This record gives sequence, C-alpha cells and structure tokens, in this order.
Amino acid sequence: MLFGRGIEIKNRQQLGYMRQAALIVNQIHEAVWEYARAGVTPREIDKISAQVIADAGAHSNFLGYFDYPATICISVNDTVVHGIPGDVPFEVGDLVSFDCGCYLVRDGKQWHGDSAFSVIIGEEPAPKPEPSISAHEYAMCSEKEQLLEITRYSTWAGVAAMDRSRARVNDIGAAIEDAVDSFGQRLGWTAGIVEEFTGHGIGTAMHQAPDVVNFRAAGRSAVIKPGMVLCVEPILTRGSNQVVTMADEWTVKTVDHALACHWEAQVAVLERGICVLNQPDFGKAALAPFGVEPQEL
Ligand code: MF3
Ligand code: CO
Repeated sequence: MLFGRGIEIKNRQQLGYMRQAALIVNQIHEAVWEYARAGVTPREIDKISAQVIADAGAHSNFLGYFDYPATICISVNDTVVHGIPGDVPFEVGDLVSFDCGCYLVRDGKQWHGDSAFSVIIGEEPAPKPEPSISAHEYAMCSEKEQLLEITRYSTWAGVAAMDRSRARVNDIGAAIEDAVDSFGQRLGWTAGIVEEFTGHGIGTAMHQAPDVVNFRAAGRSAVIKPGMVLCVEPILTRGSNQVVTMADEWTVKTVDHALACHWEAQVAVLERGICVLNQPDFGKAALAPFGVEPQEL
C-alpha cells in the first residue's frame, strides 16, 4: 500500500502502555499547572517535572534528545518552542507553553508520551480552560487570552477532524487552519501558523511518521487508521509566522517578537473512534463542542 506505509500500528496492549505514559505526562501538566506562577523559575518547574517522571518509574524522552539539556521545554512570550528552562522568574502576564514528555519501558520497548499546554502567568495558578467557551465570548478578552484560546481550540478542531472514517492526516491541518481563520473573522485579527514545526506520529519513539502539518496542505496524505497514534500540536502567533533559532540551537523565537502559543494532544485511533491518551476523560470534555465523542481505551 502506497499511503500510510511506515506508520507504526499499535495493538491494544501497546496502546495501553502509551495511555500509561500519556497519563504520566498529564501528571506533569497538573504539577506544572499547580506550581507555575509569578516569581517561580522555569528551572524549578523543570525539576518538579523530572521528579514526577522519576516517581512514576518513567524516563525522560526530552533529556538528551539531540543533546537537549532539560526534562521539559518552557517557552515564554516570543519563544515559540524548545525554550530551555532557565533562571529568569515568570512574571504576571507571561504567556508560557509547557511541552512535556516521558516514556515507559514495556516488553523491552519504549512507549512514549508527549503533550503540551500554555497558560498566562498570574500570582496564583492559572484557571483551567473552559471547554465550552465560545469564540464570541473570547472577543471580550485581551488578544493574549484570545491567542491562548485560538491555540487550544484549533488543537481540538484538528483532533476532531481525525474522527471520521477514511480521514487523512492532512485533514487535521486543514481543520486547524479553518479554526484559525474563523476566529480571525470573528476577532478581527488572524493568528500566524508556524510552519516549521509539525505534529507527528508517536509510539516506540517520540517522533515518528507521519508529519502532521498545522495548515491546509496540497496533495494526498495517509489515511488515518486504527492503531495509529498522532500528536496534534499547532503553534500560533499574534504576528508573523516567521521564526528564528537562537545561538543555543534550541530556543525558537518569532522574528517580530510577537507572542507565540503552543498546545499538543496525543491521540490514538481505535476501531470505534478516537481516544485522547493524555486526557483522563479521553478527551470527552474538550471534544464535546465539536460533536465528537471519544472512545475509552
Ligand atoms: N515535545 C516536542 C514535540 O512536541 C519535542 C521536544 S524536543 C526536545 O514534538 F528536544 F525537547 F525533546
Ligand atoms: Co510533539
């Protein structure tokens, strides 16, 4: 078969291992959410993440990946992705993405989890996003809050596009771009979609085929099939979508210093539908606004 060749297909048990890894990443998210506030440093958050992974009997997949020097990526304001946790404390109003991962070893193989979210830093932990909030209500918010909401919403729009028989990988990016455009029409400004970074397959390695682009791409792509696991992870900006990598060879910033925001969900495809591995409720709340009912593993 021409399309879909080279995409790892997981069996039931292997999806179970990946669910375990993804839920450990969710525990990292919960700990980060709880600790991240003004005055805390990214390095402190990175340490907490490493502790969650160790306590769970898992391993870091970021640490040492192409020599990456930390456990998670923390990208502040105009940093787009791959921010290395350092010693500059968060300030009130910082828009920060936390990209986290780990793997478990089962049956002699690695089973990877990888997901990300963003928050606006305050004096207290940020409120959890409301799955049902509408674009219209967000027209009342600051542009920073709008960017956060567009990024979160477009992630779930991309995931929802997987829940159709014979859906193709490129349908995800088309749905993300459509979501970004429809927010743009309602809000009067359109987020930039960074094209240099994509979502990806995941399984016995963190990054596998296929690439999952975050925009409408021409050409035929692989059919999404049961046993595949995909990470959907749009990166959006409040300005140009042009980015530049800093001298540390990791930190990626917007060239115009516009704010950037990143979200990532890890989604398994089952015979009966999709299943968001990194959400304890399998993605039910997040996908309800799209009329999609995810399946339990
Ligand atoms: N987790 C990122 C992704 O979403 C990749 C992290 S790169 C690392 O694909 F070097 F930091 F590990
Ligand atoms: Co990823």
